[in-house]
Order: sequence, then C-alpha cells, then structure tokens
Amino acid sequence: MKKRKLGTQGLEVPVLGLGCMGMTFAYGTGSDANECLKVLERSLELGMNFWDTAQSYGPYTNEELLSKVLAGRRNKVIVATKFAWQNGIAKPENLDGSEANARTSLEGCLRRLGTDYVDIYYLHRKDPNRPIEETVAAMGKLVKEGKARYIGLSEVGPNTLRKAHAVHPISVLQSEYSLWENNLEEKVIPILRELGIGLVAFSPVGRGFLTGQIKQYEDIPANDMRRNLPRFQGENFNINIQLVEAVTKIAASKGLTASQAALAWVLSRGENVVAIPGTTRIKHLEENAKAAEVPLSTSELDQIKNLLVQFKISGNRYNEAMAKMVTAD
Ligand SMILES: NC(=O)c1ccc[n+]([C@@H]2O[C@H](COP(=O)([O-])OP(=O)(O)OC[C@H]3O[C@@H](n4cnc5c(N)ncnc54)[C@H](OP(=O)(O)O)[C@@H]3O)[C@@H](O)[C@H]2O)c1
Repeated sequence: MKKRKLGTQGLEVPVLGLGCMGMTFAYGTGSDANECLKVLERSLELGMNFWDTAQSYGPYTNEELLSKVLAGRRNKVIVATKFAWQNGIAKPENLDGSEANARTSLEGCLRRLGTDYVDIYYLHRKDPNRPIEETVAAMGKLVKEGKARYIGLSEVGPNTLRKAHAVHPISVLQSEYSLWENNLEEKVIPILRELGIGLVAFSPVGRGFLTGQIKQYEDIPANDMRRNLPRFQGENFNINIQLVEAVTKIAASKGLTASQAALAWVLSRGENVVAIPGTTRIKHLEENAKAAEVPLSTSELDQIKNLLVQFKISGNRYNEAMAKMVTAD
C-alpha cells in the first residue's frame, strides 16, 4: 500500500486506512464481531494499518474491539482515536473541550485500547463554549507527555484551523470528503495546503451510498442512522442515485467498482489527502484496497468532474442536530 506524509511533524500513513466506526456504531446493529476482528487482521496484511476509532463509537466498545487485535502488535498499527463529548455520547450539550476532559478521555482510550500511546488524538468536534486554543494547548501537553504522537481536528473550518495550528502543529484534519461532499474545497483545502496539514477524508464512499449497493431507502436497516440523513431520504435519494449510476458506468469501463472509483477519486485530490473507508466485511476491505493501485487517468477524472456538474447532489449531509456540532468558521 502506498503511503503519504501528512502534516509537518513526521506522520506517515497508508493512502487507505480502515474506518472502524460501523463495527459497533451508526450503521445498523448487524455487524458480526468475529468478521470485524478478521477485517482488522486482514487490514494489516493489506497494508491498511491505519485504524480510525473514537471514544464515541459505541460509546467505548469500538476501542475495546480493536484492542483484541492490537494486543501484541502495537507497533504494527497507526491508531487514531477521538474525544469531545462527556460520557462519549455525541450530543451538543455534552461537548467538552476542557483540559480535564482531553486528559481523562485519553486515559480511558488508552485503557480500552490496551496501549500507552495513540498515534493521532483528534478533537472530534469543537466545544462551542471554549476557545480552540485552550483545547489544543491541552492536547499539546499530552503529546509532550508521550501519550499521543500527533494531533488532529475534525469538522472545523479555516479560522479554527489557523488558530489551533498557532498553538500546536495540527498534523491532520479529518472531515467528510467524497464525490458527493465537496464542502472543503473552497476554503478549507487551501488553508490545509498553506499550513501543511494533511486531510483524512471520512465517509469517502458516502456512508455506503457511492458504492451503488444501496438502491432504495428501504435497503437501509431500520435502526441505521443514515435513515435520518436528508441526502438518503425521499426525492433526494432519487436525485442522488443518478450520480452513483453514472459513476458506476465509468468505473465499469475500467474494470472497477463504484467504490473503487470513489476512493481513487478522493486519492487523486492531492498528495496531502488519504481516505479511511469503513467496512465490516473482508470482501469490501479487499475490494477497497485495490483502489490504491488503480489511479484514474486524466480523461476519467475529467469525465467524473463533468458528472459532478451535471448531477447536483440534493439534500444536506447532516440533519439539524448533527449540523449544529460542525464548526464552519
Ligand atoms: N470524524 C468524524 O466525525 C467521522 C464521521 C463519520 C465517519 N468517520 C470515520 O470515517 C470512517 C469511514 O466513514 P463511514 O464509515 O461513515 O463511511 P464510508 O466509509 O463512506 O462508508 C461505509 C459504508 O460503506 C459500506 N462499504 C464500504 N466499502 C464497500 C464496498 N466496497 N462495497 C459495498 N459497500 C461498502 C460499508 O458497509 P460494509 O460494512 O457492509 O462494508 C459501510 O456501510 C468511519 O468508519 C469512521 O472511522 C469519522
């Protein structure tokens, strides 16, 4: 697996990591823990040894699951985890970017993961009642103490990035970026380039939508959070599926699946960009891994660019409660 250097502090990761959220959280309740453990193991064989977890995925159970495969192999994996919410429950009123929460949360993450350091410690969402400088200074102390190697932020905008980076170097921003989500392009990506910060693209296959495997709203399990996202609902779904169908045709002409084309597109966006597709299945993991080996040609990228103009995505990516926790500034 190819690697990329992100940020100015020496972090190097494979271009495709493994998003672990769906193993215990968000997408249905049907994931098979044994298969997830095999997915984690296989990710190491494929060189996708960059695992993305968070305190809130469960809460807590995701890190506990990862610890089972991490044991005895700590130096073979780049582990990224996140904090933000008291009790790990992702609600606006639980956001707490205090030094005390940064520290206590990391102690909990380390205990659950069974390790004495994480590679990347992210602030999952900014606390709206606290200056970013205060939270990042607290995270910087944890780096100095050797409990985290690098710092990342998630879902914050250009001014927040600039203020944070002035306090302690931010190695990566983790935000949503894919064929159907381009909110970073105008203001955030230029700042990342200016400051030398890497981008870890989350939901790079559109929470499954861009894989072409979700053909109708009813395909989403009843207890799955995607049912609450506007882009998956009603007329929006019918409009948005047209982009997926068109991308699938271009992908097929090159012997690729829609997922592989979606991932190859994200990786084509710059040397400071990597992606963390999420999966709970070996078959999908192996399919996704191949996307790192098949760069899209200029002509295919041009065709996709035209599709993005032709098929405008309809509906917000988040519902109101989730959107409230994004820091656009
Ligand atoms: N920082 C944040 O706030 C934030 C927010 C969201 C996500 N994340 C991180 O980013 C990671 C990835 O994002 P995500 O999981 O939301 O979205 P994603 O990677 O775009 O999509 C994951 C979904 O796509 C399906 N999938 C993946 N590869 C597939 C393939 N080749 N064929 C068919 N289906 C496929 C998965 O189902 P199967 O399990 O069946 O493969 C899963 O339902 C998460 O795991 C998490 O670590 C971070």
